[in-house]
Amino acid sequence: MIYKKIIKPVLFSIDAETVHDATINLGNKLSKYSLIKKIIKNIYYYENDKLNLSLFNINFKNPVGLAAGFDKNALLTKFIPSFGFGHMEIGSITGEKCFGNPKPRLFRLPKDKAIVVHYGLKNDGAEIISKRLKHEKFPIPVGISIAKTNDKDIFEKDAIKDYCKSFKLFAKIGAYTTLNISCPNSKDGTTFCQDTIALEKLLKEINKIKTAKPTLLKISPDIDKEQLSSIIKLSRKYNIWGLIISNLSKNRGNLKTDKSIVNKYPGGISGLPMKSISNNLIKETYKLSKGKIPIIGCGGIFNANDAYEKIKLGSSLLQLITGMIYQGPVIVKDINKGLVKLIEKDKFENIKEAIGYKN
Ligand SMILES: Cc1cc2nc3c(=O)[nH]c(=O)nc-3n(C[C@H](O)[C@H](O)[C@H](O)COP(=O)(O)O)c2cc1C
Repeated sequence: MIYKKIIKPVLFSIDAETVHDATINLGNKLSKYSLIKKIIKNIYYYENDKLNLSLFNINFKNPVGLAAGFDKNALLTKFIPSFGFGHMEIGSITGEKCFGNPKPRLFRLPKDKAIVVHYGLKNDGAEIISKRLKHEKFPIPVGISIAKTNDKDIFEKDAIKDYCKSFKLFAKIGAYTTLNISCPNSKDGTTFCQDTIALEKLLKEINKIKTAKPTLLKISPDIDKEQLSSIIKLSRKYNIWGLIISNLSKNRGNLKTDKSIVNKYPGGISGLPMKSISNNLIKETYKLSKGKIPIIGCGGIFNANDAYEKIKLGSSLLQLITGMIYQGPVIVKDINKGLVKLIEKDKFENIKEAIGYKN
């Protein structure tokens, strides 16, 4: 309530990237004080055995995770867990440090409960971030999202080398690695998602690198059935453990915000307009793969009903960012509490039993 009535109006009156950067800096500073983390935990943390599940040989306290893109440089791995997330994904991290696209590059669409993102993968790069995390013990499972460096001169073979460089540097860090092949905001950011031949070349090389961690793919919502079916086939062939569905969408057809405003903002759309787009893709993937490839559902989750819908369509875990920006960090507790009520109503003992129930 305090967030929505007082904090959000103030934050929303300031440039979105300035707020994002300030939040990361503040969170990083506060994460050094255990008393502050304890107070936050007291307010926001919620636990219930009915939400425990094991996936990829990893134990998750609950299905709600923080999606890639919020903690790009892995500065909040000790802070985010206090808010009750079951896992978090850092990055996306690229082979080389990236400054991203020209500013402004982050825009809110309050009428749509959406954000237009055009960061272009700003991050400190794989070498610096892997060094930062080398000896860190994570309180919750941390996924490492890696993407191709946003540089037009890095393509084809060099693009694969770039992914492999980051993959190697993080081979022993974190709980799983995600290959982000669906960034709509960088040159070649979605090539490996849309071009099956390119994806196979990438996965072949990634498969040669030794790692004990599961590898996941994060896919674009803007693909057709044929592309999805190829991604599923290649995932089976090349030891991909799961799919994150999905990244930002280029689709602007269902926005309520005036076109004259939206047209000024380059980038991909997150939040509510993505809900049905990602749900359709989750449903399709679960059907095509016969429920055999685990799905992390992502896009437009604002409450427990949205979360449960994605689980019943076939998601084993969930991720969000935009919901937290619009509802505040209490969203994690609200969703987890709501999920317990919803599974009890459906007479399930554990959230696992609801996965794919509606599909
Ligand atoms: C500010 C912002 C930055 C993002 N950056 C990344 C990124 O670096 N890598 C990535 O895979 N996804 C990125 N995303 C996409 C999210 O991870 C997520 O797939 C998408 O926003 C849909 O979820 P949501 O509707 O809950 O925000 C970003 C999203 C936002 C809002």
